[in-house]
Amino acid sequence: NSVFQGRSLLAEKDFTPSEIQYLVDFGLHLKALKQNHIPHKYLEGQNIALLFAKTSTRTRSAFTTAAIDLGAHPEYLGANDIQLGKKESVEDTAIVLGSMFDAIEYRGFAQETVEGLAKHAGVPVWNGLTDLWHPTQMIADFMTVKENFGHLKGVTLVYVGDGRNNMANSLLVTGSMLGVNVHIVAPDSLHPTQEIMDLANGYAEKSGAKPLVTSDIAEGVKNANVIYTDVWVSMGESNWEERVELLTPYRVTMDMLKLTGTPDEDLIFMHCLPAFHDTETEYGKEIKEKYGLTEMEVTDEVFRSKYARQFEEAENRMHSIKAIMAATAGNLFIPAVPEI
Ligand code: CP
Ligand code: NVA
Repeated sequence: NSVFQGRSLLAEKDFTPSEIQYLVDFGLHLKALKQNHIPHKYLEGQNIALLFAKTSTRTRSAFTTAAIDLGAHPEYLGANDIQLGKKESVEDTAIVLGSMFDAIEYRGFAQETVEGLAKHAGVPVWNGLTDLWHPTQMIADFMTVKENFGHLKGVTLVYVGDGRNNMANSLLVTGSMLGVNVHIVAPDSLHPTQEIMDLANGYAEKSGAKPLVTSDIAEGVKNANVIYTDVWVSMGESNWEERVELLTPYRVTMDMLKLTGTPDEDLIFMHCLPAFHDTETEYGKEIKEKYGLTEMEVTDEVFRSKYARQFEEAENRMHSIKAIMAATAGNLFIPAVPEI
């Protein structure tokens, strides 16, 4: 029916750059439908399994509401609800879930787990975040960039912080596919692996993107259109002391935004969330007590400034996840994406 049907999204490289671009545009189209109360039940009558071995606010909520809007029934299966991970193998779980559900979302640790599910399920599997990649986040992020700048090619997106985590990997590779210049600004020991850089450089040669990996903040943030950051310690990690010491100079501040030299109207701040920008949370109080820090990867001032787009980005998770679900598991033919 369409080139997408039946396929899994485990990593960005599973799709071609033009397919990724299509999902971004399809997400914008579905957002317009939602805003105009036009039904879009691409998954009428389907059952969707949502597996979460790690916690989630946005991804879980986006998959749940997206599935319902698309006419499907979502079923949440948390780490303590099912046998996977303790009593039952990935293969057996995949066979059973694949016989009852029309598609499966999985969030967890090892990339091999989501790949194993896809190998044995016989239905599309979507990676809702692993230690290596966060591909569904990418469709929302580049939707947000396109909404703000009207285009993607030639935009410079600077990711500052932990350059080795899932977000850095996904942004570097996806940006390079789409012609976005992604700069990773991180201390030397947190630069992306050679494998990730090779993958990004291969795409960049074709798209014309100019990726850059540097530990020099002034060089890295120059001419940025987007300053992007993420937590210093990802889910499953516990190396607080090391990260605080390494990454404190890389905190996103108003001074860093000024250092870009970019006119105000051409500069935004993004964050995949959750963010540590104050000590409101229990977690925040704990970090303040232990390390004396009241802010981590971004100051509260930047988070609440006119540059901030993290909440638009969060909403776009729902629209973009709809696009991914409808394209790969949809019952209906996907229309050519109209101008919005
Ligand atoms: N950005 C994101 O994936 O958020 P959650 O961890 O809340 O799903
Ligand atoms: N790098 C973060 C992203 C959260 C959406 C983590 O893995 O915890």
